[in-house]
Amino acid sequence: MNAVSKKTATPKTDTPLPAPAPGPKTLAIDIGGTGLKASVLDSKGNMITERVRIATPEQRDPKTIVDTLAKLVEPLTGYARVSVGFPGVVRRGKIMTAHNLGQEAWQGFDLDLALTEKLGKPVRVLNDADIQGLGAISGKGVEMVITLGTGLGSSLAEDGRLSCHLELAHHPFRKGQTYEEQLGNAALEAAGKRRWSKRVEKAIDTLRILTNFDRLYIGGGNAKALKFELPKDVQLVSNELGMRGGIWLWKERSPGSTDIFRRS
Ligand code: BGC
Repeated sequence: MNAVSKKTATPKTDTPLPAPAPGPKTLAIDIGGTGLKASVLDSKGNMITERVRIATPEQRDPKTIVDTLAKLVEPLTGYARVSVGFPGVVRRGKIMTAHNLGQEAWQGFDLDLALTEKLGKPVRVLNDADIQGLGAISGKGVEMVITLGTGLGSSLAEDGRLSCHLELAHHPFRKGQTYEEQLGNAALEAAGKRRWSKRVEKAIDTLRILTNFDRLYIGGGNAKALKFELPKDVQLVSNELGMRGGIWLWKERSPGSTDIFRRS
C-alpha cells in the first residue's frame, strides 16, 4: 500500500488546529481519481485534525477502495458519523457510475452499507462535486460549482438547495468531445495550460447561458493551472471544501421537509 501522508488542514504556519466547536464530529472522506483524503470536522465544518491522504490504488474495485479507506482513517477517531464524496453518480448510498474508478465493478455497489459496516458509524455518500458545492455556495441565488481534477465535477444549487445532480462531465461540449474530455486532467496534460485555459473560458460562457448562474465557483486541484483573469461572477474556491462541505449532509431538516440537501 502507498504511504499515508498527513497534511495540516490549517494554513502553512505554526497555527494550532482550531478548538473544536461543541457537537457531534464528522469524519469527511473524499474519494478521488488521484487521491483518497480524510479529516475530522467539528459541528461547524472546521477541520480539527490533520488531513490524511493516500494515492488512489491502481486496483480501483470497491473492496480495495473500502479496505484502503478503512486503513487510511485508522488514526482519525472521535467521530460520530461519516460523510463521503464519491466521483460518480450516487443514489441513496449506492453507486450508479464511477467513470474514473473502473465503471463496471462499482455499478449498484452499496458504498454506504459497506462503509457503515467497516467503520461502525452512520454514513452518507454524495457526489464529490455536490459536496464541494455545499461547502462553497452562499445560499443565495443560482450558484454553480465546477471542479477541475482527474474528472470534471459539477454542481448546481438555487437559494442553497442542491438541484438534481447533472453529469456535465459526460455531456457534449465542443469538437465532438464531452466537457471531461476537453477539460479533465488528461486534456490539460495533452493540450497544455494555455489551450486548456481557453477551453475553460469557453465553458464558463456556455455554462452561463445554460444556467444563468449568479455565481460560479471553480475548485479542484487543476484550478491553479488557469491562465486568465476570471470574470467578476466567477471565483476560485479551496479544495478543502470537498471535505468541509460534508458537514451539510447532516444538517437537521424540519419535520416533513422534502429538501434533500440544503445549505440555508
Ligand atoms: C464524474 C463525476 C464527478 C467528476 C469529478 C466525473 O468523471 O462523472 O460524477 O463528480 O468526475 O470527480
